[in-house]
Amino acid sequence: DSVDKGEYRHFMLKEIYEQPRVVKATMEGRLTDSSVLEQALGTDAADLLENVRHVQIIACGTSYHAGMVARYWIEELAGVPCSVEVASEYRYRKHVIQPDTLFLCISQSGETADTLAALRQAKEAGFRAALAICNVPGSSLVRESDLVIMTQAGPEIGVASTKAFTTQLTALLIFTLALARHNGLAPEKEAEIVKAIHLVPGQVNDVLALDGEIEELSKAFMDKNHSLFLGRGSQFPVAMEGALKLKEISYIHAEAYPAGELKHGPLALVDSEMPVVTVAPNNDLVEKLKSNLEEVRARGGELFVFADKEAGVKSEEGIHVMQIPSVHEITAPIVYTVPLQLLSYHVAVLKGTDVDQPRNLAKSVTVE
Ligand code: G6P
Repeated sequence: DSVDKGEYRHFMLKEIYEQPRVVKATMEGRLTDSSVLEQALGTDAADLLENVRHVQIIACGTSYHAGMVARYWIEELAGVPCSVEVASEYRYRKHVIQPDTLFLCISQSGETADTLAALRQAKEAGFRAALAICNVPGSSLVRESDLVIMTQAGPEIGVASTKAFTTQLTALLIFTLALARHNGLAPEKEAEIVKAIHLVPGQVNDVLALDGEIEELSKAFMDKNHSLFLGRGSQFPVAMEGALKLKEISYIHAEAYPAGELKHGPLALVDSEMPVVTVAPNNDLVEKLKSNLEEVRARGGELFVFADKEAGVKSEEGIHVMQIPSVHEITAPIVYTVPLQLLSYHVAVLKGTDVDQPRNLAKSVTVE
């Protein structure tokens, strides 16, 4: 039962472990073995997607990070320009709306005040349509949107969002493929990515099997006050989400940077008191990332690297490598999120914080 902790010590841990199942549930009925079932996204979906020339994503918190990952996907696979902004900024500034823009709100609860306010404004501002990615049926966001893709995460009790995020990513990737189909994505490429999506629940399970090792690593963060999270490309938002998890529940200051920005400031902070966490799937950027890691190590920084086992990143003095099974580059952000969730969870448990109810935070911010 989803509102019972069962065998788990905290809801957060239970929800982390539910991810293989709920990611699968979010795929169900929306994919064949090799393609996206567009009609499952709504009867009007095909007409609507045919005419979209730009996507504006709006969200807050963890949902905003899901939107940031989606921007990489939408521009790479669909070739459609995409902007992402936090709702609290978007709603209070003037904006230029491109013709035929789809307004895409992402929200676990569907009740976040800023996200709803941005949507209500958008309706008057002349967007083509509003699409919601949401976890709560019947929420305000769902009721007020033209098209809805429900995530199937089930109730999320832990204030720090985990399974909502990975199911949002799953829904966003399916949406991206549907949009990409209207914009010239080759059927073979669609089939390749759909096959990769089908592998995700099993890959998340493989990462969960590393829990004990990650718990060991977490001890190194116990007495630290600051940390840096690095990622490149679509793993940059994964690093942001990893940093958010750590600050939310362990109260350790964590900052995320795109690895390429290291020399433009954060390197000045690196010393043995500043652990640096990095996500390194095996893509075109891995060589560049390795030289960033070298820069950190040369300054005495201690590195914690979650790397593809084929990426050639090895544990040595000052570098702790946790090997992640090889995954497709497109689905990597979903899989690499999970070890960072486990890391923050174990650090928080060691520090004895209230993991499910971190101080000063609410599950849903329904007032400004
Ligand atoms: C709060 C929660 C976060 C969540 C954010 C956005 O800050 O603590 O976990 O990501 O709100 O909420 P939403 O329901 O709109 O996704």
